[in-house]
Amino acid sequence: MRILAIESSCDDTAAAVLDAGSVLSSVVASQDEVHNKYGGVVPELASRSHLRNIVPVIEAALEQAATRLDHIDAIAATCGPGLVGSLLVGLSTAKAIAFARQLPFVAVNHLEGHLLSPRLDGEVPFPYVALLVSGGHTSVYHAVDHGRYHLLGATRDDAAGEAFDKVAKIMGLGYPGGRIIDDLARHGDPRAIRFPRARLKPRRNGGAPLGTPFGTPFGFSFSGLKTAVWQYVREHAIDSEAAAADIAASFQETVVDMLLDTAFAAAGSVGCPRLVIAGGVSANSRLRQRAAAEAEALGIAVTIPRMRYCTDNAAMIALAAWHRLQRGESDPFSVNATADLEL
Ligand code: KG4
Ligand code: ZN
Repeated sequence: MRILAIESSCDDTAAAVLDAGSVLSSVVASQDEVHNKYGGVVPELASRSHLRNIVPVIEAALEQAATRLDHIDAIAATCGPGLVGSLLVGLSTAKAIAFARQLPFVAVNHLEGHLLSPRLDGEVPFPYVALLVSGGHTSVYHAVDHGRYHLLGATRDDAAGEAFDKVAKIMGLGYPGGRIIDDLARHGDPRAIRFPRARLKPRRNGGAPLGTPFGTPFGFSFSGLKTAVWQYVREHAIDSEAAAADIAASFQETVVDMLLDTAFAAAGSVGCPRLVIAGGVSANSRLRQRAAAEAEALGIAVTIPRMRYCTDNAAMIALAAWHRLQRGESDPFSVNATADLEL
């Protein structure tokens, strides 16, 4: 079974070819240069760039996999969550190819792609607890089996990646902020500034419907931290590279503290000795380093995808589709793009 998958939920245009679960190619065209001067993704510009990139990216994925559309058995695409205009480009392209070639079509939830991404490099047995940290999401799931993911906690406000991006913007560092802050923080002291850590107490469902962000026992909050950095930057002159590095390192350390505290507590609450960390922020070097060190002390096995599968890619979408196809599932062409699609 050879699958061509397309991912265009935000600002990366991606295509990949997967054969029997192995990645033959994974191509990503970044739009960082388009959005850099705005300090964040501009949805209309993202859609237009996807339109320009989508065909060359698919062609590159086929070429790198040394294959042709004639040899593809199924087509997959992300149908949500994400920016609707961006999602529609990849989804419509996938439907058009599947319709023209009379191939099965699979619409994939972007979050399921991230949750399964560590499996692109090897088996990670279920059950596991997954911390999903990206530009749009910060959640913890208990992944019991394929298609069975229970939400244990989610952010009450900003996503962790969004906090990285906004803090980079406040500091005038450019977009996307995560990688820039990660690099800058290497030269800084993580204990230089004590920013507030929001520690939301684990709680019983506080009246909100189960499975919704407010109806989960665990939670995250990053908007207070963002404001604290903003205030700090307003009150202190960032007059040297060293001063900027200290702010970056201290901010990053605070985010990592909050993410790991909650992820380990969530794993403990369901008695699960396996933690997966996925999504764009899982590329963060400090998070990777501390997760590995602290997990060992707690007797928890941590798996984080290699860098190219942390941020958005189509290989993870192909993998999610492959498991659904193996279960005999596919989707009708009536499936639409859904900005706030839940897992
Ligand atoms: O998963 P992803 O590529 O797209 C979404 O689904 O949102 O994640 C993008 C996010 C951005 O907010 C970016 O700043 C963040 O991941 N990111 C990082 C790093 N690399 C990317 N955050 C912290 N450290 C990094 N090294
Ligand atoms: Zn993502």
